[in-house]
Amino acid sequence: MAAESEALRERIRKAMASQTQSNINVLSSLHAVLDELGYVPDEAIEEVAESTGTTINTVWGVASFYTNFRFTPPGDHIVEICWGPTCHLLGATIILQGVLDDLGMSDEGDTADNRLTLKYNTCLGACSQAPVISVDHRLMGRQTVESARSIVSQLKPGGGH
Ligand code: FES
Repeated sequence: MAAESEALRERIRKAMASQTQSNINVLSSLHAVLDELGYVPDEAIEEVAESTGTTINTVWGVASFYTNFRFTPPGDHIVEICWGPTCHLLGATIILQGVLDDLGMSDEGDTADNRLTLKYNTCLGACSQAPVISVDHRLMGRQTVESARSIVSQLKPGGGH
């Protein structure tokens, strides 16, 4: 357990050190950790506090203020369904409902078996290919409810496709 925690801290420190912008602060460091791990563990709160010369309370205050930070590991796959204006006009609602039904969910979040995390997105930046979903940050355009359901159903536990 101690070795695991140290390995996690090592990834956190590397993520923080990889920041290239001139203004490195609590928020940018938390984002760097989120990009690397997909969540912000307790260890990251401590490491960010130490590296930015502030307190754990301050870091926690920043992290808990923003809704895009999560504090538990995400599912094995991240599925985002765009419901922005263009995707909405071209059928995103039906896609979203179909996928939610298949997963037995009523809203975005993690499946009970942690196989995937479903998120809504207000624009995945590929409107010309609407309706769009993304799986593990890979964009997939021109979806139908059938294609999206099929893609999601084939995602295997443990991160494999
Ligand atoms: S509105 Fe869906 S990709 Fe832009």
